Amino acid sequence: MQLQEVLFRQGFGTRRVCAGLIQQGRVQVWPDAEAIQPAVVTDSTLEVTAPGLRFTVQGVPWEYHELAYLMLNKPAGTECSQKPSTYPSIYSLLPAPLRHRPQKGPVQGVQAVGRLDQDTTGLLLMTDDGKFIHRLSSPRHHVPKVYEVTTKHPVDARQVQKLLDGVVLEDDPKPVRAAACEAVDTLHLRLTLTEGKYHQVKRMLAAVGNRVEGLHRSQIGTLTLPHDLAPGQWRWLSAQELAGVGYAPA
Ligand code: URA
Repeated sequence: MQLQEVLFRQGFGTRRVCAGLIQQGRVQVWPDAEAIQPAVVTDSTLEVTAPGLRFTVQGVPWEYHELAYLMLNKPAGTECSQKPSTYPSIYSLLPAPLRHRPQKGPVQGVQAVGRLDQDTTGLLLMTDDGKFIHRLSSPRHHVPKVYEVTTKHPVDARQVQKLLDGVVLEDDPKPVRAAACEAVDTLHLRLTLTEGKYHQVKRMLAAVGNRVEGLHRSQIGTLTLPHDLAPGQWRWLSAQELAGVGYAPA
């Protein structure tokens, strides 16, 4: 693939802008996996092996990914919307190329896989692979999601049992149940859900007479939020981590 096409596909601008960045000496490329230093390339049509290619654009290091799969540690006070109403958007936490990747399938730029409320923190997956979004959002696939819940009132064994047995939410007669639920201490619950209905945790806790004071998603499938990923930070997912949420890219 030509170097200008690599930049274009990674979201660095139109093909013309990408060719210009290279011709102006703003792009450096690591010639191979062993190379320590990248070197300036000014030939925008240089043929390169795109998968795994490492390069810098205006000093910012980047790695070629055909499709983007990443995790974000969502901070409190952010909205999972491209057009937020009250709080800053999670998309403002991502570098511009991730938001501007050209459309390959139905998805333009990376998108959140499902949504978390503005006050919910923790593990959020993002991608531009429409199949991945569909797969993880589909109720048929039952990917378990683990939530750490801080409650307003002390949790008792009766509440835990009700959450496991199933509770009825106001707009749906079919009960929803937790796949797992344990009281961590008096005011903390660990709840595993395999569906993702609107405000599900908050509504389930309300249905058993308690109230959510804090909500943090710590795990999706076998993928746990790494301790060294600070709130607001993102990183690429490895193939192994993708497998941990039950997905193998085509
Ligand atoms: N359940 C909720 O109530 N809120 C979230 O953000 C996620 C699950």
